[in-house]
Amino acid sequence: MCGIIGYKGKDNVIDVLISGLKKLEYRGYDSSGIALKGKDIQIIKSVGRISDLEEKVKKTELIDTDMGIAHTRWATHGEVNEENAHPHRVGKITLVHNGIIENAKEIKDNLISKGVGFNSNTDTEVIAALIDFYYENSLEEAIAKAIDDLKGSYALAIICDDSDKLYAVRCESPLILGISDKGTFVTSDIGAILNYTNKYSLLGENEIVVIDDNGYKIVKDGKEIHREVMTSNLTDEDNDLHGYPHYMLKEIMEEPVLVDHIINKYADNLDALPDLSKYDNIHIIGCGSAYYAGMIAKNLFEEDGIRVECDVASEYRYRNIIYDDKTLVILISQSGETADTIAAMRKATEEGIDTLAIVNVDGSTIARESTYKVLIEAGREVAVATTKAYILQVLILSLLSYKMNPDNKYLKDLKKLPQQLNVLLDRTGYFKKLADQIYVRDDVFFIGRKIDYAICLEGSLKLKEVSYIHSDAYQAGELKHGTISLVEDGTVVFGIVTDDFIRDKTISNLEEAISRGAKAIYVGTEETKYEDQIIVPKVHSKLQPILVVPVLQIIAYYVAFKRGCDIDKPKNLAKSVTVE
Ligand code: G6P
Repeated sequence: MCGIIGYKGKDNVIDVLISGLKKLEYRGYDSSGIALKGKDIQIIKSVGRISDLEEKVKKTELIDTDMGIAHTRWATHGEVNEENAHPHRVGKITLVHNGIIENAKEIKDNLISKGVGFNSNTDTEVIAALIDFYYENSLEEAIAKAIDDLKGSYALAIICDDSDKLYAVRCESPLILGISDKGTFVTSDIGAILNYTNKYSLLGENEIVVIDDNGYKIVKDGKEIHREVMTSNLTDEDNDLHGYPHYMLKEIMEEPVLVDHIINKYADNLDALPDLSKYDNIHIIGCGSAYYAGMIAKNLFEEDGIRVECDVASEYRYRNIIYDDKTLVILISQSGETADTIAAMRKATEEGIDTLAIVNVDGSTIARESTYKVLIEAGREVAVATTKAYILQVLILSLLSYKMNPDNKYLKDLKKLPQQLNVLLDRTGYFKKLADQIYVRDDVFFIGRKIDYAICLEGSLKLKEVSYIHSDAYQAGELKHGTISLVEDGTVVFGIVTDDFIRDKTISNLEEAISRGAKAIYVGTEETKYEDQIIVPKVHSKLQPILVVPVLQIIAYYVAFKRGCDIDKPKNLAKSVTVE
């Protein structure tokens, strides 16, 4: 994973690189570094956040430069330290890398046998060594030869002692070209350069970009390629906290407006959504929260009488899947760049199966390669733990299910959602009170059945990823088959109860936990006797998760806040997981 940025031009290079890295920090944040090219190459690295690197840069005497590359890291090979941080330099080559080289050991052993030395444990250093090994007169040729040898994923920005040009190339990992009047950028994400330009071009696999004072050229197999220059409709505004202490809270609070936007766009214009009626076997694939949004949809589509399978992409890609000519594979991904989800999509495509992408980032790999796409239009999501994107994924899936099986109650309830969400999210005082009870606990369980279980999965993930409290979601009837032995005095058990059909069953399971000392927090649509209960308005069952999950998101937020966690960047995580 990791985020990379490179720049050549008239803007202040340090400002471009540091501000870019700050916006790419969501892609990994255990260490970072920059390399500047002037008469010499100057490299500065730091363990920790971009702010640590920035401090170090401020204290360093910098060379005159119009060109540089930078990187923020999420460790895959080698521990977190300065040596393993990027940029890596071997011989005349200095580069930054996002991705994983699968045959790095093989290449490294081969280079060692030819006398090349190594300083770090990273696969990235191997790429630098390989390019340096091939480099004689033309860097472009050396890069072309090196990428021929590489197996795996990479986005690379490369500078060289002998050259005033900046080179970049990608395969499977994202990299785009940014274009302004003052200079040229390469970056993992357009968001990193929006304060300079919104003009960009996409780069195909193994196309080499060569950037000089006059602009850029894109080359593949020695031939120049012309790519369309596009304009992003994202703005730098999307990065503003607007007075909120954290992006996670800001993004939860944006949910009513964003839900309203999607409703206005599709409720009376279902033709704008793909028609899925010809499919009767749906596979829904995603990772993390996107998978849990898929679990909600599995319940919805099954109620419509459709065969549905839902799996995590990292399993699906390696399973023996039985397709038929009425199979549709739905890929859910906020970023559209999650490596396992891309692999799952390509597996289906190779079998001739139609795919539908539900993504936030237009122009992303999944958005581009799928048969159909629906954009969730969440705007930029900065907090690593997804909130608004998950809700919009669920809303789009719910609309698709409604399109296949329309009824009037749905439409009536749909239009009330934004207002109901607003009212619910306003109850911050009560959510904080609940957080006060939860934040001291070691274990939390979420129990529910059917769609309520799917809600539990996301509620539990949200809590553990931002607060670091151990938490698990269980099908309510399953808790007693082993896990209930962990319930002791005060263990918090959330009971999610929105499905009338199984209400009494789940409540009985909650009682079983209470009899063993559990502290119950009930989240449901009907009043109960429980001291701690969050009552959400009863709406059409296909819409109910959209009113329940935000409540769990905000409780997770306040618990993490009470525990003093780094809410927007939880430890060990990254927002966009571009490695397997
Ligand atoms: C990471 C993020 C999760 C996200 C998952 C899938 O693990 O931390 O919040 O749900 O990736 O990401 P995607 O971009 O495919 O939705």
